[in-house]
Amino acid sequence: MSLTDLIYAGSNAVAGLTEGAVNDAIEKYGEGHAVGYPDTAYFLPIIYAATGVKIKTLGDLPAAVGILKSLITNKEDLGDALNAGLATAVGAEIIEAIRYLDGDPYVNDAGIGFVADPIIRSLGVPLVTGDIPGIAVLLGESADPAALAAIVKDYQEKGLLTFMVGNIIEQALEAGVKMGLDYRVIPLGHEVTSVIHVVSVAIRAALIFGGIEPGKLAEFLTYTKERVPAFVNTFGELNEVIVSVGAGAIALGFPVIADVPVPEVPGALMTQADHAKTVEFSLEAREIKIKVTKIDVPVSVASAFEGERVRKDTMFAEFGGNKTECWELVTSGDPAEMEDHKITLIGPDIDDASFADADVVRLPLGIVVTVGGKAMQKDFETVLERRIHYFTNYIDGAMHVGQRNIAWIRLTKEAFEKGFRLKHIGEVLYAKMRSDFEKVVDKCEITIYTKAEDVKRLGEEMVKPIYAERDARMNALTDASVDEFYTCLLCQSFAPSHVCVVTPERLGLCGAVSWLDAKATKELDPLGPNQPIVKGEAVDERLGIWNSVNEVVNAASQGAVERVTLYSILEDPMTSCGCFECICGIMPEANGVIIVNREFSESSPVGMTFGELASMTGGGVQTPGFMGHGRFLIGSKKFMSAEGGLSRIVWMPKELKDDVAERLNKAVFEMTGIENFADMVCDETIATDSEAVLEFLETKNHPALAMDPIM
Ligand code: SF4
Ligand code: NI
Ligand code: NI
Repeated sequence: MSLTDLIYAGSNAVAGLTEGAVNDAIEKYGEGHAVGYPDTAYFLPIIYAATGVKIKTLGDLPAAVGILKSLITNKEDLGDALNAGLATAVGAEIIEAIRYLDGDPYVNDAGIGFVADPIIRSLGVPLVTGDIPGIAVLLGESADPAALAAIVKDYQEKGLLTFMVGNIIEQALEAGVKMGLDYRVIPLGHEVTSVIHVVSVAIRAALIFGGIEPGKLAEFLTYTKERVPAFVNTFGELNEVIVSVGAGAIALGFPVIADVPVPEVPGALMTQADHAKTVEFSLEAREIKIKVTKIDVPVSVASAFEGERVRKDTMFAEFGGNKTECWELVTSGDPAEMEDHKITLIGPDIDDASFADADVVRLPLGIVVTVGGKAMQKDFETVLERRIHYFTNYIDGAMHVGQRNIAWIRLTKEAFEKGFRLKHIGEVLYAKMRSDFEKVVDKCEITIYTKAEDVKRLGEEMVKPIYAERDARMNALTDASVDEFYTCLLCQSFAPSHVCVVTPERLGLCGAVSWLDAKATKELDPLGPNQPIVKGEAVDERLGIWNSVNEVVNAASQGAVERVTLYSILEDPMTSCGCFECICGIMPEANGVIIVNREFSESSPVGMTFGELASMTGGGVQTPGFMGHGRFLIGSKKFMSAEGGLSRIVWMPKELKDDVAERLNKAVFEMTGIENFADMVCDETIATDSEAVLEFLETKNHPALAMDPIM
């Protein structure tokens, strides 16, 4: 059979299955029965993107099947055949949606099935920063499980996000691959149709970040080809359904690399039978470049391990976490007096004889990273210090929580058994500081203290005064006190017209870029994503309008956005790219706003979930009344200050409220004299329906009720 014949055979088979499944479902549940995926604002996302049609009930499906069939021309033409691959994608999306009619079909599967919107949004920042350099989709059953496992681990160590479909999931699990979202290896499911859940991720990236209008299929295909760095590896023999799925991937711009002979299409469909070469070959095919830093430690160190948790049963050693004192500090030294790569441990290590009988090794810990370099500035110390959290988490077998003197670190038994010791934390920090900050760090020394008296004394005498000095400096740093703001254009790789304007009192909406971060990045990468905006005179102080800001935003968005205000949610608000930590929206009847964070999956008092609220904005478009923002903005005196500021907040999920309460209370008190404002803010444990929320606000005499009408 020719390649096109194979594709058509698969597409026609899937079309038949889809039609059958739709008819059966309608017969069983009736046309009016709802159909859809959990926690998405985009209906059946592929059909919605391709046609603009919002499938809501089973009765909507037969028309979609009609469209699907029309995509299969059966003509001997490769372009037509690739379209038939898209028909297979549509069919798989329908079949999988029908599987969800009786509840989550993946509860007893190693796979996770459909990927919810908030997860996709959370991937925005690591993808734009290159922290996740690419997306691998692995499919099938391998004749050589050990080789398969080696491939997955290699992708993992390179930071890629890997999706798995088919029996390779068990094969990799049995070979010891660590799996789950926290490890960037995501099992989707066993049925070949579950591959659609990764296609759905790529398509929703275009909807969420790209702001592409549903119905413009060609624009979606261009977006995925140019901006979603994905590719496919298949394992084992290919049947015609897999080939037609592959055709769909190729239509999206994702090369397919098989490990068995296939009719090759250069750049699109290729064979690489040697598993030792699969990774390199695939990365080259998709032009993914990886920067590796070799670090001399006995465990893997990769961004893919950032999310791993170390639980009590796998824990070997623990530092901090209210059990012992634990702090960390980056400070600058005089390069002339420093010895590069000097790593010193003062005090017992985790293999000390005194721990021979201990269940868990608990030690106080103080980490001092001293950096020196001509371009190093005092202000960058906090920027580098915050990276300790990430760098330590990159260690396979280490968990790092918190920062400064509330740091908390755990190490696993597995890491200990592989020979990991405290000096290796020093090795990792040294290597990452040198490679990630090479422009400012010429020399780096690490000293690790584990004697209780040292950790206590240095903590009091050296560390606390430095923190206090920094806090004082940070508090004095306001939008009014600086001459320059910064742009952040990082997210333009996904949201081409989005520009964040980062100021001391308004961090980037992803929460990852503060004004100081932006300033440091400008130093590290002079032509990079963060450029200064020389602020000049304000046109309007209250709304936060500067001509300089408008000019820069206009130019950087290629004219898509002409004007932004920095302090208003209603008048020319800043755009959102899609990866914001929180979304703020107006609740008119309460004369205030609600805020929902990405981690909160339930509905809010305005009747929408985070995902639904988030879908109202994004893609670099201005949407008055909705604003994506970072957690830290809740506590800034500039938070929508044009509309009355922080005291407009009437509802937040409890976890978020607790997280921000201290700063929020302090700022509101300084602005209005109201004490313990957070207690006046409603949350889901109190009420989520509008009337009950209002009642609560009245009993608390919430200030928003007495303010000018918000709209
Ligand atoms: Fe994206 Fe804005 Fe964060 Fe930069 S600051 S990474 S543009 S969300
Ligand atoms: Ni880790
Ligand atoms: Ni973004």
